[in-house]
Amino acid sequence: MIDAIILAAGQGTRMKSNKAKVLHQLGGKSLLHHVIDTITPLSTSINIVIGKDGELVKNSIKDSSININWVVQKKRLGTGHAVQQAKMSINDKSTCIILYGDVPLISKNTIRSLIAQSQSTGFSLLSVILDDPSGYGRIVRDKNKLIEAIIEHKDADHDKQKINEINTGIMAIKGSLLKQYISQLEPNNKQGELYLTDIVEIAVSDNVTISSLVCDDASEVMGINNKNQLAEAERIYQQKKAKDLMSKGLTIKDPSRFDCRGNLIFGKDCSVDVNVVFEGENELGENVIISPNCIIKNAKIGDHAEIKANSIIENSIIGSHTTVGPFARIRPETEVGNHARIGNFVEVKKSTIGNKSKVPHLSYVGDSSIGQDVNISAGVITCNYDGANKNQTVIEDGAFIGSDTQLIAPITVGKNATIGAGSTITQDAPSDKLTLSRKKQKTIDNWKRKKKQ
Ligand code: UD1
Ligand code: CA
Repeated sequence: MIDAIILAAGQGTRMKSNKAKVLHQLGGKSLLHHVIDTITPLSTSINIVIGKDGELVKNSIKDSSININWVVQKKRLGTGHAVQQAKMSINDKSTCIILYGDVPLISKNTIRSLIAQSQSTGFSLLSVILDDPSGYGRIVRDKNKLIEAIIEHKDADHDKQKINEINTGIMAIKGSLLKQYISQLEPNNKQGELYLTDIVEIAVSDNVTISSLVCDDASEVMGINNKNQLAEAERIYQQKKAKDLMSKGLTIKDPSRFDCRGNLIFGKDCSVDVNVVFEGENELGENVIISPNCIIKNAKIGDHAEIKANSIIENSIIGSHTTVGPFARIRPETEVGNHARIGNFVEVKKSTIGNKSKVPHLSYVGDSSIGQDVNISAGVITCNYDGANKNQTVIEDGAFIGSDTQLIAPITVGKNATIGAGSTITQDAPSDKLTLSRKKQKTIDNWKRKKKQ
C-alpha cells in the first residue's frame, strides 16, 4: 500500500504571477499534473495539500479517472504542518511517499527505488550531491556516515553549510512512523515553522536507521521557484523527450530546437526539422516529413505526407502522400485526403478535401466539402459567412475552379464543372459545364492616361 502526499500549498511569490506556482506549464502540462501522472501508477492513494486559495489548483485536474484527496492547509506554517493536514488519510501500514508539486521531473524509477529501499528500515530519504548546495537543507551524518539530522540552510552554521549532500525533500516512510513523528514537531528554528525535516532527528532518537538514496540526476529533483528555473526545466524536459523519441526511431534534426507539449506517436522514418512545436496528441504515419517552423496540434498525418515550412495544423487529419504548405494554415475539423496538395498561403477551416485534390495557392476554404480530383486555382475564396451564419460550399469530384473566384455559400459546384476565372458564383453551377460570371472585356480607343502637370 502506497499513500502519496504531494505538497502544493505554496503560492510561489518568486514566479511573480497571479497563478499558483504549481499551475505553471512544463511541456504543455502543469507542474502538479506531471507529479500526479508520475505517481498515479505507483500509489494506492494521492493526497494533495493545497492552500486556502487552492480552488483553481483543485479544478485544474479534470481527469476524473484520477482519484485525489484534496487537503487544505489554511495557514502556511511549514512543510511539517502541511503533512500534518493529511495525517487522517494515511494508513499505518502503508508506505508514505512525500512529493512536491513544484518538483515535476522526478521519475517513476527513482520513486520505485526509494520505496523499495525504505522497506528495510521504514524510512528513506532521497538526497543529491550538489556543487552549490546553498538554500537547501543539508544531510548531516555521524562518524559512521549514518544520517543524524537535516539542517536547513538558514539554521546551519558555517561548517554545516559546507555539506554538499542535500535533502531533496522527497522521502518514503512507513505510515505509522510518519504519523507518530509529525505529531512531535516543534517550531524551534529561525523561520518559526514546523519543519518536516525535523522528523529525521526524532526518528534517530527513536532508534530508527534512516537510509538514503542518492539521486544521480539532479534535474529530477530540481524545484521550480522562478521563471528562470521554469525555462531551464522546460529545456531539460524537452531534451529528455527528444532523446526518448529518437531512441524510438524519430529523426530530429536538432534536439535543442524541438518541442513536444503532449504525446507524439510516429511510424518509421519520420523526420522533424528545427523549431517544430507539437502540441496535444499527435500521430504521424511512416515517412512523414515535417519541415522547419511548423506548429502541429492534435493532428493525424498519414504515410509519406510532407508538411512544408511555416505551416500550422490544428485538430485535423492529413492523408497519406499529401503535401501541406509552405505557409499553410489548416484549422480545426479539416480532413484532407490522400495524394492531395494544400499549397502556400492557403487557409482551410472545417472542410473535407478529397483524394488528389489541389488547393495550391492563396485560397480560403471554409465550411466546405470538396470531392476528389478537384482543382482550386489561385486566389479562390469560399464566402462562407453572410454576416450572420456560416454556410456550406460543396464542390463535387473533378470540378475545376478558375483563379480568383468567389463562391458565395451556400452553393454547390457539380461534378466535373468548370468555373471561369474571376467569377463571383452565387448560384449552383451544373455538372460538366462551364459557368462563369464575368463582364465582357472591352478596349477603349483613344483613351489617354493622365499626365502629371
Ligand atoms: C525544503 C526542505 C529542505 C529541502 C528543500 C528541497 C523543509 C523544512 N525543508 O525547503 O530541506 O532541501 O525543500 O527543495 O522541509 N509547502 C506547503 N506548506 C507549507 C510550506 C511548504 O505546502 O506550509 C510546500 C511548498 O509549496 C513547496 C514545498 O512544500 O512545494 C517545499 O516548501 P519550501 O518552503 O519551498 O521549502 P524549502 O525551504 O525549499
Ligand atoms: Ca523550495
